[in-house]
Amino acid sequence: MRVIIEPTYELVSQWAANYVAKQINQFAPKESRPFVLGLPTGSSPLGMYRHLIHLYEQGQVSFRNVITFNMDEYVGIPEEHPESYHSFMWNNFFSHIDICPENVHILNGNATDLIGECARYEAAIEQVGGIHLFIGGIGPDGHIAFNEPGSSLTSRTRMKELTTDTILANSRFFNNDPAKVPHTALTVGVATVMDAQQVMILVNGHQKARALLHAIEKPISHMWTVSALQMHPHGIIVCDEAACDELKVGTYKYFLDIEKKNLDPNTLL
Ligand code: GLP
Repeated sequence: MRVIIEPTYELVSQWAANYVAKQINQFAPKESRPFVLGLPTGSSPLGMYRHLIHLYEQGQVSFRNVITFNMDEYVGIPEEHPESYHSFMWNNFFSHIDICPENVHILNGNATDLIGECARYEAAIEQVGGIHLFIGGIGPDGHIAFNEPGSSLTSRTRMKELTTDTILANSRFFNNDPAKVPHTALTVGVATVMDAQQVMILVNGHQKARALLHAIEKPISHMWTVSALQMHPHGIIVCDEAACDELKVGTYKYFLDIEKKNLDPNTLL
């Protein structure tokens, strides 16, 4: 796996946005040959979305022939709820770029047949030929999407009960009231993410330091689902200094050294 260590969250965001733009531009997508992106919600990718919008406004990237699949959605809150992942994606990204609404895929947490909805989602990903680049964040317990500790590393899209840790962490978006946080969600599986040609995980802040330690230095384990990235042929972690607080000095220095020519986000464009 590649580990890109940037001094600040701002630079993590710029690096990630420039990397995404570069992948899209190199692929040169057409209507008949679209680029397929997997996308996350949460606070971690917000800076990346801001930079991508900026790149779009400057004419440096277009999403006209890009298809997106989001990672997850809560079960049982209306799409128009301000904290639904539908609202999050349209407010923070899709409304500001040239994406075609019919190319946006987000799980429907209000479907009458939730199991069927998950199966349809997997089939839709397969139908477009798979995901080129899946981007994710992680929870403090190392979960990707809503694949909570103990999730099978071969899991596919399905319904998951959220852990108390996740409910408490996400209550910051629900007036700090855990009772208002949905307790179930639909989520792509660990294997759904790992099937992508490339996977890029964004990690920032000291509160993610233990998760980053498990992602990079500890054994692969279903208790830290992000650790499955160790098996991926093209996994990239983009993190800030604060997230490295638990890494060995040797690990930290090694990745800084081997990536030293690649750390300036401007070299990507
Ligand atoms: C939620 C989402 C994850 C996200 C995580 C971390 O649980 N389902 O996809 O990575 O939160 O969120 P944040 O980036 O706000 O720390």
